[in-house]
Amino acid sequence: MELLPVSMFLGCREKKIRIEMTKVLHKNNGIVRPARMGDVKEIHSLLQNFAGKGLLLGRSVSSLYDQLRDFVVFDDNGVKGVCALHICWENLAEIRSLAVSDKHHGLGVGRQLVESCLDEATSLEINKVFTLTYQPGFFRKFDFKDVDKHELPHKIWSDCLQCPQFPDCDEEALLWTSNK
Ligand SMILES: CC(C)(COP(=O)(O)OP(=O)(O)OC[C@H]1O[C@@H](n2cnc3c(N)ncnc32)[C@H](O)[C@@H]1OP(=O)(O)O)[C@@H](O)C(=O)NCCC(=O)NCCS
Repeated sequence: MELLPVSMFLGCREKKIRIEMTKVLHKNNGIVRPARMGDVKEIHSLLQNFAGKGLLLGRSVSSLYDQLRDFVVFDDNGVKGVCALHICWENLAEIRSLAVSDKHHGLGVGRQLVESCLDEATSLEINKVFTLTYQPGFFRKFDFKDVDKHELPHKIWSDCLQCPQFPDCDEEALLWTSNK
């Protein structure tokens, strides 16, 4: 009997994910993959660690369940990195909740997570992606350009209302535009 490849039995979303989002990192054998329910506690704890240092906005467990499909994780025997691509508006998405565990810094994990989100934006025909961040230098590496926050649609401020730093936020806004 001829054995059929596993990919023939995967749904469209899973196939796309396998092809476009799963990247093996030879340095540490981890992979970038879509987040799953069983990851939520680890994602929460990773984000809380950096939220406690004022580096990003923490997320409640409830909001992580609500928005789980936004997230990809770097899985290396557990969640060691996380990043979300959140669709905001026509042709506009946000990269948010990017964090890599301290022990994995400098290994290209952040790059893999951001590139995975930008690939997904492109596959969704979204060609503008912004971020609000205290790490503008990191995002400039990926061709994000500085932009005045007020050029972004008003809708994005709904999340900011939940932030303890609102309205005195000093995060910088950067915008990536696809050249495809
Ligand atoms: C910022 C962060 C995600 C970077 O992740 P990382 O896995 O260490 O980054 P990478 O190893 O993928 O680095 C990719 C490139 O960015 C550079 N880089 C990493 N952090 C940087 C920073 N803070 N500023 C400028 N450049 C940075 C690296 O030197 C590397 O450059 P190269 O390709 O020329 O060698 C990680 O430091 C982190 O989780 N920080 C705490 C949480 C945080 O600040 N999140 C961002 C909030 S939006």
